[in-house]
Amino acid sequence: MRAVHAQTGRSSLLALPLLVVTQVAACGSPGDTPGPAPAGDGDGSGQEAGAPSAGDDSTGPAADAGDAAREATGGPDTPAVEARVAGLLGQMTLDEKVGQMIMVDYGSLASLDDITTYFLGALLPNAGEAPADNTPRAWLDLAGSFRPKALATRLAIPLIVGIDAVHGDAKVAGATVFPHSIGLGCSRDPALVTAVERATAAEVRAMGFTMSFSPDADVGQDERWGRTYESFGEDPTLASTMVAAAVTGYQSAGPGASGALLACPKHYAGAGGTSWGTGVMGGIDQGDTQIAEAEMRAVHLPPFKAAVDAGAMAIMVSYSSFNGTKMSASGHWLTDVVKGELGFAGFLLSDFDAIRQLAGGSQQQEATAINAGLDMIMMSNGYVEFIADVKSLVAAGTVPMARIDDAVTRILRAKVVAGLFEANAPDPGGLADVGGAAHRTIARQAVQESLVLLKNDNHVLPLSRSAHVAVAGPGADDLGVQSGGWTLGWQGVTETGASPIAGTTILAGLQATASSPALVTYSWDGSQVPSGTSVGVVVLYENPYAEFEGDTNDPSFANTSSAQDPSGHVIYDGLAAGIVRQMTAAKIPLVLVLVTGRPVRIESYLSQFSAVVAAWLPGSEGEGVADVLYGDAKFSGVLSKSWPRDATTLPVSSLPPGGDPLFAYGFGLGYP
Ligand code: GLC
Repeated sequence: MRAVHAQTGRSSLLALPLLVVTQVAACGSPGDTPGPAPAGDGDGSGQEAGAPSAGDDSTGPAADAGDAAREATGGPDTPAVEARVAGLLGQMTLDEKVGQMIMVDYGSLASLDDITTYFLGALLPNAGEAPADNTPRAWLDLAGSFRPKALATRLAIPLIVGIDAVHGDAKVAGATVFPHSIGLGCSRDPALVTAVERATAAEVRAMGFTMSFSPDADVGQDERWGRTYESFGEDPTLASTMVAAAVTGYQSAGPGASGALLACPKHYAGAGGTSWGTGVMGGIDQGDTQIAEAEMRAVHLPPFKAAVDAGAMAIMVSYSSFNGTKMSASGHWLTDVVKGELGFAGFLLSDFDAIRQLAGGSQQQEATAINAGLDMIMMSNGYVEFIADVKSLVAAGTVPMARIDDAVTRILRAKVVAGLFEANAPDPGGLADVGGAAHRTIARQAVQESLVLLKNDNHVLPLSRSAHVAVAGPGADDLGVQSGGWTLGWQGVTETGASPIAGTTILAGLQATASSPALVTYSWDGSQVPSGTSVGVVVLYENPYAEFEGDTNDPSFANTSSAQDPSGHVIYDGLAAGIVRQMTAAKIPLVLVLVTGRPVRIESYLSQFSAVVAAWLPGSEGEGVADVLYGDAKFSGVLSKSWPRDATTLPVSSLPPGGDPLFAYGFGLGYP
């Protein structure tokens, strides 16, 4: 898929398998437990060797990756693309143009015929929306019901149908669920990220969808943020490298039979740097990024530059503000910076109903957003009114026709570059790829590479296959917990036993890897530790959450008061202390496995565990955790996010270097 750089007119054919995606600095080869770190302190350096620190003035790997892409391919001329787009635009009525600027929740359509009647250009399922029968085939039929309605319009401009496939196409029952990005960031393996997103793209395109609202290009600074797990980490160079790799993976299929998958890096910009207390629910999500422009440019802009250089043709704009100005209203950031300075030639998509957070009535909000540089408006409903409003605004000269033409040009350019005009309806045979063995193999490797070993006294890990192991913690036997948010539904699910999520729990993985399943016993509360048990594995977890429902002022298993969690969502269910107490009473060495979307405070538990493993949100392939705990795979992950020492060091980040983390960014141990 070709990227077009408006400024230079250069194009870069994207993501050829030969594309060189620069490996981020080699992970620090994790050695043994670092000598100087006394147990329970964890101050070992473990820092990855030669990792570029944040704010490096070097161009960093991401830029190299973009340059490598361009150098590797040179790319064909783009005049053909521009001529085709201009030719289409020249035929379009104002109604047809404004219809292209709409991405509406399909559930609000009065009739599918409205797609034709109002020339709608894009649709989405809202975060929690799915066909009644949540199967890959049902999703294919749903997308298939939209397609002819768009092709029935005068110019037959194809739809973009977007979905939040943020860790695999995980809203779909049966899809492969990959680890969330915080874990992928710990892998320091961009080639793996490309493979993960290439597999995700295949599953999404198999269902006839043509955009994923990902990768998340946020540089998450504050672990109290409910979206920490969606970010690749706190360092802009790491995030940039992984975002470029993800865009390459999503768009690498090229304009094949069902068209390429359009990546949509989000949330531009600074969503990961907002201040606690400024959030939409009183927490931090959708809040105000209260920093100098120089810091915004050094920390939060680079991943979007990397995305543009890697060929992204859509970018989603953040709900958040920059020093009090909503990003959706900022001509500086939307027009001057990303389109002007970065040469972004694709389109800017608003977040869901984000323009309704702007000042004034509907027309004022629409004029502000479109004139600032938003090209496509994502909305829950109100598409008929929106069209009437924008036509009035154009007639009054409040929104220049030139701005409309620029927005539609960018949208059409993305559809042409993605090959959507040539795409056929997907062959239902492609559904066999959804949740298939090949993708699960990639997901299992991603789990292995995402795990981080934080402590391993007396080499209690790796486990012996012949050891009697007692497992405790409901999170050990719950595919929903290990998958996290954006799985089946917006907030994720918790479910023990049979699950629409096709996969393997951590417990099942351990039982399958031991020399006999009977050697691995389980009690959710730790009350059953058979005599002869030689080691205990305790899984402590967060209940799944998404967005502001995951904001918490105290990321700690001891925090069970919703007062700390502005949305009242129960993230920590208060079972941890009892489980740990039961298991420590058995007086056996204990391994702590953390299934969380962020670093959580564990300072009060450290001395009770011989080993501590950050497993993050591994997704459907729980066996990947067992692979590493039993030593079939090595620990290679290093932290993508600094770990808070206690409540007084929240938030903790390596930007600027310093702070007082319990475990530093880049820390990770390994087997001897
Ligand atoms: C949400 C999120 C965004 C998501 C979009 C569509 O509010 O902020 O990440 O892609 O709406 O579901």
